[in-house]
Order: sequence, then C-alpha cells, then structure tokens
Amino acid sequence: MIYTVTLNPCLDRYIDVETLDTDDVNRAVHEARFAGGKGINVSRVIHELGGDTVALGFSGGFSGYELEGRLVNSGITSGFTTIAGDTRTNINIRDLRNGETTRVNAIGPTIQEAELGAFAHAFRRLAPAPAYVVLSGSVPPGVTHGIYAQLARWAQDQGAKVVLDTDGEPLRLGLAARPYMVKPNIHELSRLLDEDLHQAPPQVVASRARALVSAGVSIVVVSLGGSGALAVTDTGAWLAVAPPVPVHVTVGAGDSLVGAFINALSRGQSVAEALRDGVAAGAASVQTSGTELAHRPEVDRLRPLVQIVPLSL
Ligand SMILES: Nc1ncnc2c1ncn2[C@@H]1O[C@H](COP(=O)(O)OP(=O)(O)OP(=O)(O)O)[C@@H](O)[C@H]1O
Ligand SMILES: [Mg+2]
Repeated sequence: MIYTVTLNPCLDRYIDVETLDTDDVNRAVHEARFAGGKGINVSRVIHELGGDTVALGFSGGFSGYELEGRLVNSGITSGFTTIAGDTRTNINIRDLRNGETTRVNAIGPTIQEAELGAFAHAFRRLAPAPAYVVLSGSVPPGVTHGIYAQLARWAQDQGAKVVLDTDGEPLRLGLAARPYMVKPNIHELSRLLDEDLHQAPPQVVASRARALVSAGVSIVVVSLGGSGALAVTDTGAWLAVAPPVPVHVTVGAGDSLVGAFINALSRGQSVAEALRDGVAAGAASVQTSGTELAHRPEVDRLRPLVQIVPLSL
C-alpha cells in the first residue's frame, strides 16, 4: 500500500469572477471546492493511475468533514486523525478578464500534543503494511520541524520506503532519517545546498544531487519545471525532458510527478521508467485547471514523448 501524509490539508475553494474589483462587491460566475494538500494530491494521482493509496493526516471541524467527504466521492481511501481545530480553506479567485488568480492561503489549525499523539499511535501500526510512505508539504502550527524525520523512522520500522517532498528545515531535518527518495524542485535544492543552481546545466545539478545520495538517500529526483526532471541514484543519473505542452496551471505538477513516479516504482519499474512516468504526469497536470491534476489518458499519450537522456557523473 502507498500511504501519503498531509499534515496541513485544505479545502481549496475556486471562485471565478468576470473582473476582480478590490474594495467592491464581486459576483461569482463559477465556484468549485476540492480536497487539497500535497499528500492528498499525490494520492489523487496514484488513484487516477490505478494504484492503491490511503491518504493520512489531520482533519477537523465542518471543513474537515467536507474534506473527507470529497475524498470519498473521488474514491480515495483516507484515515485522518480528528482535531479540534477547523481544516483550513484556501481561496483562489480567478479574474476571467485577465486570467490572473489571486490566492489567499490560510495558515491552518494548531495541532495539539494529544492530537499528534493520536496520529502517531495510528501511524506506527499501519495496516495493510506500508510499501511506500509519502511525506509531503508544510508542517502545521504546533508541530516541530523534525516531524518528518520521526515519521520516516516509524515508517521504516514497518518496512516502508519513505518519500520526502518538503522544503526548508523540515527537509533538512528529515534527511537525517535517510529517506528512500526526496523530490526537491530546483529552488528547494538550491536552498538545501545553499548554492544557486537555477541556471546550472542538468549535469551540474545531477552532480550536486549526488551529494544527497552519498548522505544515504537512494533516489534523488530534482524537478526542473518546464525542462522536466532528473533522477540520481548510486548507479546512474537520467534527465527526462518534458514534452512541450500548453501550460495552464503549474500548481500540483510536482505532486503529479511524485504520485506517478511512486506508482511506477511500486509496479516494479526501473528508476528511469518511473522518471518517464513522473515527467509525463507533471506535463499532463500543467494542462489542467487549478482544480484538477493529471488525467490518465494524457499521461498515456505523453509517456512515449518524454525523452530520457542518461547523464554521466
Ligand atoms: N511548463 C511546463 N511544461 C511541461 N511540463 C512541466 C511544466 N512545469 C512543470 N512540468 C512538469 O511537472 C514536473 C514538476 O514540476 P515542478 O518542477 O514545477 O514541480 P514543483 O515545483 O515541485 O511543483 P509543486 O510543488 O507546485 O507541485 C516537471 O518535472 C515537469 O515534468
Ligand atoms: Mg513541489
């Protein structure tokens, strides 16, 4: 089973207006609400691609009920720990005249110690046993930045391979647990290594990513936005060039990559083939609106169009 963890999930609320006038009344012409958060996105993509996944995390209040209900409607199994606070709602207002989206992201409820304890109790006894555990996204108020290192160790105790996709201190501290895979984008990798790699050629990015492999990570995937992604292991490095696609919304592209990559690995595919799937899913995802991620037919269409280039290190 592939478990995902979203410690700070959200209800994503999308509102379209003809034109957004600040300090005035605006009329909504279309509204939609979705269960959001990075781990949940990963589960949605794995489910779309036919894999088995359970989404874990915290949910609370009426918005928490709605979050879980929306997951049920999408056919995604979840096991959320109930909290006293309200699951946050993020608001995205799209101005149809100029296509610009204004986002307001809430901080999220503070997790109480007892709530974290209840989560840990369940997390240390996952059934069915976890083959992969994906830890993604930001850490909510009330939880220490070392949480991912702790969760990674508990997952590893159960035989799971851990995938860590986060930023800053939670990523830095999480590496101490030697996760099986990390998936920084180029901004996150630059911050982590304290080196500006934005203009660096793939070969150089791969050689820097190699340092994380030396530190005990089996697979380092660095996503490069429209340029695709590269993967580094102790036996090789590969660049996957993303096919050109019309770009609509890039939010969630990284989550689509992670979901498709792990889904492929869990089916016994090689790292290079999993990278191909991941990049195809990322490119499929940027074409959909903010409320949707990769669709399977588009992933299938793009897969053969992703070019895999071995890199020598
Ligand atoms: N403009 C684009 N054109 C084609 N594919 C893209 C584009 N942007 C992203 N992708 C695909 O999505 C993958 C992940 O993108 P990106 O590097 O932006 O991840 P990210 O920054 O972690 O995203 P997020 O965390 O918002 O989900 C890329 O490796 C690529 O396959
Ligand atoms: Mg990301």
